[in-house]
Amino acid sequence: MEDTKKPWAGRFEKPTEPSVEDFTESISFDKQLYKYDIQGSIAHATMLAASGLLTEEEKEAIILGLKEIEKEIDQGNFSFKKGLEDIHMNIEVALIRKAGEAGRKLHTARSRNDQVALDLRLWTRETITQVSTLIEGVQLELAQKARAHLDLIFPGFTHLQHAQPVLLAHHLLAYVEMLERDKERLADSMTRVNRSPLGACALAGTTLPIDPETTARLLGFSQVCANSIDAVSDRDFCLEFASNMAILSMHLSRLAEEWVLWISPEFNFIELDESLCTGSSIMPQKRNPDVLELLRAKCARVYGNLFFLFSLMKALPLSYNRDMQEDKVAVFDIASTVTASLSLLKKVVNGTTFKPENIALACKKGYLDATSLAEYLVTKGLPFRQAHEVVGKLVRRAVQEGKTLKEFSLDELRQSSPLVDKGVYDFLGVENCIKHYKGTSSTSPSAVRERVGWWWDRLWESKKA
Ligand code: ARG
Repeated sequence: MEDTKKPWAGRFEKPTEPSVEDFTESISFDKQLYKYDIQGSIAHATMLAASGLLTEEEKEAIILGLKEIEKEIDQGNFSFKKGLEDIHMNIEVALIRKAGEAGRKLHTARSRNDQVALDLRLWTRETITQVSTLIEGVQLELAQKARAHLDLIFPGFTHLQHAQPVLLAHHLLAYVEMLERDKERLADSMTRVNRSPLGACALAGTTLPIDPETTARLLGFSQVCANSIDAVSDRDFCLEFASNMAILSMHLSRLAEEWVLWISPEFNFIELDESLCTGSSIMPQKRNPDVLELLRAKCARVYGNLFFLFSLMKALPLSYNRDMQEDKVAVFDIASTVTASLSLLKKVVNGTTFKPENIALACKKGYLDATSLAEYLVTKGLPFRQAHEVVGKLVRRAVQEGKTLKEFSLDELRQSSPLVDKGVYDFLGVENCIKHYKGTSSTSPSAVRERVGWWWDRLWESKKA
């Protein structure tokens, strides 16, 4: 009886309706917070003892009991009880069974409201670190590919139409930069995540002489939440985490989409290792990039969870409301989706082979050197708008005659503009365009080489560290 008796049962005459237990439980998903719950309780007990609310012996009995419970859960020997609602009451009741009277004192100056906020903040803090490490793994693979193809010229696209030649390395590093900002956003959010809600208790604080600064310090928080009502009501740290994960997933979905295109026979720029492809149950010839398609799809799932959280929190009166129990369903799903996506993407990038011959063939199409020719005319003194028009007409003629720009004779080019001299050929063809790019953010070979080296050193060093 003691085992399933709810710690809050004192006021009740009737037992809980079983369907209500089913409907209100969260143990089925919040059990994954156990480590944080125990970590928080150990710090709380330590503070209670320092504040004279527990004796040293009681504190020791509590810590011993909590450590035993942690081991039991680790080893799968703990029996979670739905009747005890959540991870907090499951652990508390188990502790009372082990430590008796001392266990009954652990919940002094604490409520499940500040306890769950604490657990979730500890979980978010650790998840941010895990995700950041996984992001770096993907960045390193991308930098490695960039390094392996330092000179490979690639058709740059706008509107998914051939635009200007770029270095493949430059295109790949664009993702490395995006991912870096994703990491920066996570690191920045840490200042708001890493605050301790303990001391808020249910919502108002406590009349007992506690020391929330000590608990915060023991748990590695940088500060204590300043307002007890805010401390138990706040889930914007979850929303911030979910938003950051949504932006990250959006970046991953763009890469996934591009690679789905590049794998298709129409592009044929890359091949994905067969172990990462899947087949069709009806079409025997198929080798599909399902992993990339699902990477694209997982973004929708993260967005869904983000909007779920927004809807959950919208217009909720202060302070704690049971609605907030559902927040964990969303953030846990986001974390498992994003960590799986990043792990898979690392393998995908590693297992991708670029096809330089096909990429070179694509670079011959689409007049990628047209802007370079217009800029050449600018250096000869023609205003850019006129240069644009001259080259536009020349491209029209080239299309009609089935030629590339560099296949025009000097006379033909001079018919377009008398400013043209034989130096023009140094600006035609993608190899020539590339070598003339200037500026550190451009696809100039020296700038790209330098940035690849910079990323490589940085990512490689942090992997070793
Ligand atoms: N399982 C609850 C949650 O996840 C814990 C807090 C419950 N607090 C309460 N007063 N019923 O939010």
